[in-house]
Amino acid sequence: MTGEGIGFGKAILFNEHFVVYGIPAIVSAIGKYTTAKIDSQNKAGWTIEDNRKATPNYKEEKNEQQKDSIKRILNKMRVDTSKNGIKIVLNGNLYAASGIGASAASCVAIARALSEHFNLDLSDDEINEAAYEGEKGYHGTPSGIDNTASTFGGLIWFEKTNDKVMDKITIQNPVEIVMGNTGKVANTTAAVNGVRQRKEQNPQKYDEIFDRAENIAYLAKDALIDEDHRELGKLMNENHKLLQQIEVSSRELDFLVKLARDEGALGAKLTGGGLGGNMVALTPGRDLQDRVATAIEKEGFQTLKTVIGATRGR
Ligand code: MEV
Repeated sequence: MTGEGIGFGKAILFNEHFVVYGIPAIVSAIGKYTTAKIDSQNKAGWTIEDNRKATPNYKEEKNEQQKDSIKRILNKMRVDTSKNGIKIVLNGNLYAASGIGASAASCVAIARALSEHFNLDLSDDEINEAAYEGEKGYHGTPSGIDNTASTFGGLIWFEKTNDKVMDKITIQNPVEIVMGNTGKVANTTAAVNGVRQRKEQNPQKYDEIFDRAENIAYLAKDALIDEDHRELGKLMNENHKLLQQIEVSSRELDFLVKLARDEGALGAKLTGGGLGGNMVALTPGRDLQDRVATAIEKEGFQTLKTVIGATRGR
């Protein structure tokens, strides 16, 4: 039997990194997704055919992490391939790049496909838990925000507490965004570890930054619900400043953020682990979205035009 599964990409709108320490964050699934297909194979164990389009070097640099991740998912789901082997095939329209939820989307897609192939009938919560285990292969100590967005879709308020709080945020009208890819593959584990080290060395400075990040999350939730896009954009800009202060931005990210703002984006910030990967710009309306995307593409960077707040992905 063939098992098939899907996982959405995501854009973190507020508080990546801070979320690892229990500060609330806001994430939206996006309309692009990864699919996984699983078939039996004659030889024992598992093999993977990764057909996703990807940033150059992404797959090579993530190869070991991907193997570790798949082993973790299989263990968590108690799937034994030592007698009956499986072949995993990844596809879908989500470009595999840093900052866009590519690892989480693949973990969710694989968990769903395994559940179908082995008739496990897992609930979304169980899929999310299996994908969270898989994310450990890529992130070390993931907050769980990416796999949650990738599993459930939509716009989500996420807090990493003992119970992992997840609330759907419902907005009346989805809002256009542009994501800009620096083309740099980033290592999320290294980015997260760097923040931890600097936080330990400068507790007072980091406490102040973290307090402000927490405030921003609450203000941003109100702005989203009120459809106050100007305020939302300002808060994204401020969030980017905090991310610069904890040293997870990069020259290319800052360049794309400034370019997007200069072209009229209401706000722009890095998104995801940083140190490369993607930025996200708030561009309500198709015209503004096109303008910002075109400006970024003219500089030789790849863009993704999508929306936040659609019910399920897009
Ligand atoms: C990565 O997409 C988001 C981080 O906050 C790490 C995590 O939450 O696991 C940087």
